[in-house]
Amino acid sequence: MSILLKQLAETTAFIKDKVQADAAIGIILGSGLGNLAYEIKTEVAIPYSDIPHFPVSTVEGHTGRLILGELSGKKVWVMSGRFHFYEGYSAQQVAYPVRVMHMLGVKTLLLSNAAGGVNTDFKVGDLMIINDHISLFTVNPLLGKNEEVLGTRFPDMSEPYCKEMIKKAKAIAASNNIDLKEGVYTGVTGPTFETRAEYKLIHVLGGDAVGMSTVQENIVAVHCGMKVFATSVITDLGIREEENIITHEEVLQAAKEAEPKLTLLFKEIVKCL
Ligand code: HPA
Repeated sequence: MSILLKQLAETTAFIKDKVQADAAIGIILGSGLGNLAYEIKTEVAIPYSDIPHFPVSTVEGHTGRLILGELSGKKVWVMSGRFHFYEGYSAQQVAYPVRVMHMLGVKTLLLSNAAGGVNTDFKVGDLMIINDHISLFTVNPLLGKNEEVLGTRFPDMSEPYCKEMIKKAKAIAASNNIDLKEGVYTGVTGPTFETRAEYKLIHVLGGDAVGMSTVQENIVAVHCGMKVFATSVITDLGIREEENIITHEEVLQAAKEAEPKLTLLFKEIVKCL
């Protein structure tokens, strides 16, 4: 057995030993967007540091717990805090928890993130449903030997974000008066925010938003056959007045303010799964 499969088996056995792991929905919460975790009727919350082979989250604004609980009457696994490539983890480590969720029986994955807007119609605080992505120099987590038991060597990426779920999200937003944007997420490594020239380039390439997460998790989820739904909170604008700069504090603040809309959207989506 390969090291990866052995590690996955050990991680999964550890979790299953703690709790009856029967949730088919997984949720990964982004920077400053961890409050959804408080809406969950928690059955068990396992600190990442206790889980064998799990990386440990280091970024401010991430609490770092894997939670099993109930949201909108459905059993869910929630990662409160995610791993980023810029923290020094490999692409495979970043996406490792998605594989663990797959082993635990998760079929549908919901992702949230904070992102910079490059679509000039966007404003800070907007929610953007991700309908596609561009990987801009991010490392593909499927590099290396392919484990056929997890998925195929050359996965199709023509529908990385489930169209059916996007349709549902739009209907939910319309009936709750949420102004929902939709667009292409551009994944970068960070940790620098982009230069003005880079934001312009991303805009020209067809990106609507840019962020430092999500793409690697999405690829691994698609590889193992999950349906994925993802939403960005626009926390800053890449194409902006000359004198404005972008800070992590401002990103977290904007995420916090927009979070109630995102929480409502995710709760309603989970309800119809
Ligand atoms: N760029 C990259 N990542 C981000 C941004 C940004 O402007 N805002 C929040 N995450």
